[in-house]
Amino acid sequence: MKPDTLADGVFRVAAKIGNRDLFEGIWPIPDGVMLNSYVVKGSEKRVLIDLVKDWDGALAAVNKQLDDLAVGPGNLDYIVINHMEPDHTGAMARIVAAYPEVEILCSAKAVPLIKHFYKIEKNVRAVADGEKLDLGGKTLQFFMTPNIHWPETMMTYLEEDQILFSCDAFGSFGRYESCFDDELTEEEKTKLFSETERYYANIVSSFSSFVTRGIAKLALLGIRMVAPSHGVVWRKEPEKIINWYGTLATYMNGPREKEVAVVWSSMYGNTEALLSSIVKGLESEGVPVHVLQVPQTHESFVLEKVWRSEGLVIGMPTYEYKMFPPMYHVLDILERSHVQGRKTLRFGSFGWSGGAQKQFDEFSTAMKLDCKGVIEYQGSPTEEDKKKAYELAKAMAKEIKG
Ligand SMILES: Cc1cc2nc3c(=O)[nH]c(=O)nc-3n(C[C@H](O)[C@H](O)[C@H](O)COP(=O)(O)O)c2cc1C
Ligand SMILES: [Fe+2]
Ligand SMILES: [Fe+2]
Repeated sequence: MKPDTLADGVFRVAAKIGNRDLFEGIWPIPDGVMLNSYVVKGSEKRVLIDLVKDWDGALAAVNKQLDDLAVGPGNLDYIVINHMEPDHTGAMARIVAAYPEVEILCSAKAVPLIKHFYKIEKNVRAVADGEKLDLGGKTLQFFMTPNIHWPETMMTYLEEDQILFSCDAFGSFGRYESCFDDELTEEEKTKLFSETERYYANIVSSFSSFVTRGIAKLALLGIRMVAPSHGVVWRKEPEKIINWYGTLATYMNGPREKEVAVVWSSMYGNTEALLSSIVKGLESEGVPVHVLQVPQTHESFVLEKVWRSEGLVIGMPTYEYKMFPPMYHVLDILERSHVQGRKTLRFGSFGWSGGAQKQFDEFSTAMKLDCKGVIEYQGSPTEEDKKKAYELAKAMAKEIKG
């Protein structure tokens, strides 16, 4: 890859990561992910903002582009670390070894993390909230934005060009041929939509109240470009991604989209036998329905659809006196991600004495679900069960429609 020019003296240095690995060891990236670092050159000083880990050729790609920009060893004054997660710092020890005189600027909370992860203490300086750094004709300003999504996270703003280097915030999964939002193909725009929502749900959703706080803090800044560490640079519509994240954050406590996610599992088809009654009941009110089979659908994609939807239907049988295990896992992920308050139905089959419902009730309480009904039956569902499922689903969809 070649460096991309954001403004005079401001460049993106990016690596495209393929789909072989899971992101954070858990989330599939079928379309890969971008790792974006940035270079800002003032007349006096030069800065590299965020690093990479040596992942799928990323370090070599970044080093090559730094050479292209003539920011080799001896030509770099500062490294800014907005966030310590190893996707942006994994290669820190090797990079710092190549630039022994460089000063590392980060939040106060990142200082001990740099020490413990990479054993680096020399030339590390904590910057204060709002502190400015004069590079000569280019001024960086640092803003603490804790818990988006680690405690030490901050963002860096380039005053003269009004560019916000936001690191993980405003990021997306997926690889994109072009650097900027206005250069995407129609196919890439479609991908960017779902890959932003899935990234948010997987990586950021638990921290939604901090996202809201972070966006409020940035409100006074003029922002002409949002340059995140994953995804594309928002040059044409920087406000679009900021407002979109604002909306995604409100899904935690509502309002949410008037849609329903139906998440279901079945071993032998007895739980599945009720599925079409549920879906027909929901669709009879014209509400969009996302049907997601577990474990066939990875929890990453389940969480994406559940996060945006006001309605949640969970179907699963009893297994060894408890819930079907893959559904337990999915509910655990949903609870950790702060999925809460959804209008909910639960259905499922059992063989002799059940047990799934009791365990589901514990999740329901913990997640403050607004449970509208349960259709649980021994063996296969009766016509009456199917009718009840249809009616309950229809009533819930009607309530969601408002
Ligand atoms: C491995 C296994 C464990 C089960 N454990 C229980 C149980 O503890 N209690 C119970 O009532 N039924 C139990 N069942 C019966 C299932 O809940 C029942 O067959 C149900 O109809 C399965 O629904 P499905 O066809 O949607 O998979 C178990 C079934 C299997 C295969
Ligand atoms: Fe991160
Ligand atoms: Fe990241």
